[in-house]
Amino acid sequence: MFTNLLSKFIFLSAATASLVVLPGNAMAQTADPAWLRYESLKKSATGTPNLIAIVGRSPVLFSAGQELVRALGTRPAQQGRTASLPTKDAFFLGTLKDVRPYIPDLKPSHPLGPDAFWLKTVQRNGRRYWVIAGGNDRGVLYGTFALLRKIAQKQDVSSLDEMESPSAPIRWASEWDNLDGSIERGYAGRSIFFDGGKVRPDLTRVSEYARLLASIGIDACSINNVNADPKILGPDFIPQLVRVAEAFRPWGVRLAISVDLSAPKSVGGLSTFDPLEPQVAAWWKKTVDDIYSQIPDFAGFVIKADSEGRSGPSQYGRNAADAANVIARALKPHGGIMLYRAFVYNHHLNWNDPKADRARAAYDYFHALDGKFEDNVVLQIKNGPIDFQVCEPASPLFGAMKQTSEAVELQVTQEYLGQQRHLVFLPPMWKETTLDFDMHVDGVTEVKDILSGKVSSSKFPVSSQNSRNSKLETGNLRLGGYNAVVNVGLDQYWLGHPLAMANLYGYGRLAWNPDLSTAQIAKEWTELTFGTDPKVVDTITRMLLPSWRMYENYTGPLGLQTLTDITGPHYGPNIESSENNGWGQWHRADANGVGMDRTMATGTGFIGQYSAEVQKIYEPLEKCPDDLLLFMHHVPYTFVLHSGKTVIQYLYDSHYAGAEEAATLVTEWKLLHGLVDDGRYSEVLKRQEYQAGHAIVWRDAVANYFHKLSGIEDAQHRVGHDPDRIEAEAMQLSGYAPADVTPWETASGGKAVACTGQNSCSASLKFDHQGGNYTISVQYFDQDNGVSHYELLVNDHQVGSWAADDHLPSDKMNGHTSTRHTFDNVPLQRGDTVKIVGRPDGAEPAGLDYVELTRERQ
Ligand code: GCU
Repeated sequence: MFTNLLSKFIFLSAATASLVVLPGNAMAQTADPAWLRYESLKKSATGTPNLIAIVGRSPVLFSAGQELVRALGTRPAQQGRTASLPTKDAFFLGTLKDVRPYIPDLKPSHPLGPDAFWLKTVQRNGRRYWVIAGGNDRGVLYGTFALLRKIAQKQDVSSLDEMESPSAPIRWASEWDNLDGSIERGYAGRSIFFDGGKVRPDLTRVSEYARLLASIGIDACSINNVNADPKILGPDFIPQLVRVAEAFRPWGVRLAISVDLSAPKSVGGLSTFDPLEPQVAAWWKKTVDDIYSQIPDFAGFVIKADSEGRSGPSQYGRNAADAANVIARALKPHGGIMLYRAFVYNHHLNWNDPKADRARAAYDYFHALDGKFEDNVVLQIKNGPIDFQVCEPASPLFGAMKQTSEAVELQVTQEYLGQQRHLVFLPPMWKETTLDFDMHVDGVTEVKDILSGKVSSSKFPVSSQNSRNSKLETGNLRLGGYNAVVNVGLDQYWLGHPLAMANLYGYGRLAWNPDLSTAQIAKEWTELTFGTDPKVVDTITRMLLPSWRMYENYTGPLGLQTLTDITGPHYGPNIESSENNGWGQWHRADANGVGMDRTMATGTGFIGQYSAEVQKIYEPLEKCPDDLLLFMHHVPYTFVLHSGKTVIQYLYDSHYAGAEEAATLVTEWKLLHGLVDDGRYSEVLKRQEYQAGHAIVWRDAVANYFHKLSGIEDAQHRVGHDPDRIEAEAMQLSGYAPADVTPWETASGGKAVACTGQNSCSASLKFDHQGGNYTISVQYFDQDNGVSHYELLVNDHQVGSWAADDHLPSDKMNGHTSTRHTFDNVPLQRGDTVKIVGRPDGAEPAGLDYVELTRERQ
């Protein structure tokens, strides 16, 4: 292995001109390679050279070289020590500064900033060189990945002259991992970082993850839950963090951590954590100095304070600037930064107060602090003013902090968006609702331009950036950018659903260049992940692109937010759970109407937090876009939308359309049988079939809920009319007993049947319709406290059997656990007996909701 790699490299070092051995473990891969699959690259890369020359010595440059070897395969060896240009065609890698002495007339049209790269083909002495020059070492690595991306997409790379630089200096990933190895809002197995209160002994997956992050331009990763365990700052823990930093470092990814503000007291043993106490400042300084002495490239901290019960400066009558600044001052001499989260709100709001509004909270709290933060503090603002809902407006705070650096916080982990069991491609949402949204604060001010520091009058004029933060390597940008909660786990596919990785990829690409179109991102990701066969690319991009609006349609359209279990796992439907409590995710639905009145005229005044131009979009009822109508206004169900439909009819129609669309994802995916490897084919198929069934649970719950509440009929007579459905409680039961389901709308007719105190129970019906081929769908409950078994029999002959062995987030019969199992092409004759046998297990009662018999089209 070593000889192989060695023979691929001429290592040109300006200092030593010596040959360097590359680490031999570059090829190991324990998880799915995601979009970094190089199987077909060797064939695509015709005309590229066999030789790689690198100027410089850093581990990041080694990684860049290794990546070319790994992708393009072993080629005829060429060895040598040289301090001059190779005598054969070669890839030529290094920072621009180091490369230029070899090719003095290599002059870029503009300077290469930090992390920027230039791909340039040059001809010298009859030889061709593919120069990958970086503004720094990371830039070289990013350029290498960009070149490989082109080759994988079968683009012509024979003549290149392309420069790219990142949109913003902050491009982080955030993992909500707990030190015990669990992950807050993680849906893909346990932590790759921690186990049993310690950093894992084997960090192979961490290196692999860092490589994925580097390939999309992410340069720092905060590895622990924002609800931070103070122990992470304990003296015995920091040496463990060193190992993570080492695993990240070859990929140019810097370690960051979330910290708890109470650490000076809880870990440091002080009697206080008041940020204005000198002993507290001294503790932070000492702790930060200690971290940097062991991790010199440490990126900084993320802080959640005074939020959802976390400790915070309010305990001492101090504010967020006091808290952020004391830590920022400790970080500053080392070039570290502090991402202070704007997710600060009162979760004991008074539901009876019509003016109370959680959406107002971040702006109300932070805008008064504008200009009061140290210049290495960045306010990290969730894309919307509530909390990662299916559709929210851009947070007004983006337009309000003219003298404070800002980063957007996005969520790749699909907490409110189907938890990676539902396919939801998020870049369209990120772009449409937030990044491309014009805040109109200083002429045209799209959020993405505020994040990159291109517009908005920052306290820090662009020209003074380097002197201001000389160690921060921000180039011409003020601090600002992106952080996304990713929550990968030990799952083979990193995020659970193999197609969910399109969101991580899309996040990185947008943080690098928010002007990329979502169609381009979807195509790029698909080509890299599944190859360039046009049928595969067309099908998968067709599945990805509309999937966010599809999910919105069957969960919470018109700005209602995800109508999920707000106080539970945030997964299945539970419409009322967001009402009548202090959490403030209200939609205020009653018998007459629905929606939060956030107008300035009669409501909470939230709309007044936007600039005058934006107010003009949201305040007038007749102007407000349909998709945010109920976020901004309370209207009667009969209110007519721009689309011409009434609110209530739209609610019905969108839910039926969304569920229908979810079913087409199964048909679409099946087109790819034989064109995608078996492992990923069956993994995705399983999830799409599940999603199709769960979309029906959502549809029925929301449609029935609003039908009952409003008393208004569905013009198409679908809601409450399911002619093919037979309720389990109406079947002939043996052992099974009817049971109420809570909330009622998550079971058909509000009831199901449960088998308790028996080994097995059954529910049967006499088939009394026209004979033919039928699809039989059985709606059952797959709780997480047992593995029940089911059988479907016709006239006592088994049609099939299955186990309720999924890991859905509840131990009860409800909208989280309601699941559909379908059999196609079952021949039925009038008089046949259709029977479901359920065998409970543990505390799971083999619950059954209904059976649906749908005649197949001839
Ligand atoms: C959501 C999420 C929490 C998380 C919080 C945050 O409320 O459900 O798990 O801690 O956001 O972003 O801090």
